Amino acid sequence: MNNAISAACKVVVLIGGSGSNLQALIDAMPNSHYEIVGVISHNPNAFGLERAEKAHIQTTVVDHTAFAERSHFEVALHEAIQHFKPDLVLLAGFMRILSDTFVTQYTGHLLNIHPSLLPKFKGLHTHQRALEQGETHHGASVHFVSAELDGGPVIAQTIIEVGEDASAEALQQRVLKTEHWLYPEIVNWFSNGRLKLSQNVVLLDNQPIPETGLQFTFTEIEGIKQ
Ligand code: GRF
Repeated sequence: MNNAISAACKVVVLIGGSGSNLQALIDAMPNSHYEIVGVISHNPNAFGLERAEKAHIQTTVVDHTAFAERSHFEVALHEAIQHFKPDLVLLAGFMRILSDTFVTQYTGHLLNIHPSLLPKFKGLHTHQRALEQGETHHGASVHFVSAELDGGPVIAQTIIEVGEDASAEALQQRVLKTEHWLYPEIVNWFSNGRLKLSQNVVLLDNQPIPETGLQFTFTEIEGIKQ
């Protein structure tokens, strides 16, 4: 990985589905200091691939079903990523669990967005589980990736109130909207050299951030109407 970021930070986005976060990252690119140089999907039918092509971004499919072993899939994935020589790799709806060996190669250069207030609700069906647990607040987190599923130091979270009559789908949509603000913002911090991981501690402007990550309630997020 190239640590000297002077020109635009080269970003590769790994997807597996709709790619609405990818779209938000693409849309924010003209006013940012990063360039998405490649999009890689483990799913050949991911709609996000069409979004990337429309934006003239090079795409690669590394179809996980074509590999009998995860280690072989990860070797192919690593090669596909390295082709783009990125400064930063983003997981955005990439639905494969990555091994310790894989993740360690990218320490400090691999981010994920997860639709819950981590460490709550790791894994799937986060919105439904938040409702079932009677949570009053819910949201999304961006974190540096460690080998633990949805683990690794949290950088920032968006927090919304759960309405009393909320459905999982409605909650998902509201959280997703905040994700579209959060991810480009954080990628920009990284691209401007403001955000770093040092000995497993998140530094923003050389200052450690709170363990929960920085927290933004929706009222603080300009332009987001809930
Ligand atoms: C998002 O909710 C993200 O937090 C999670 O997967 C979903 C991806 O959605 N990791 P999209 O493909 O970006 O629309």
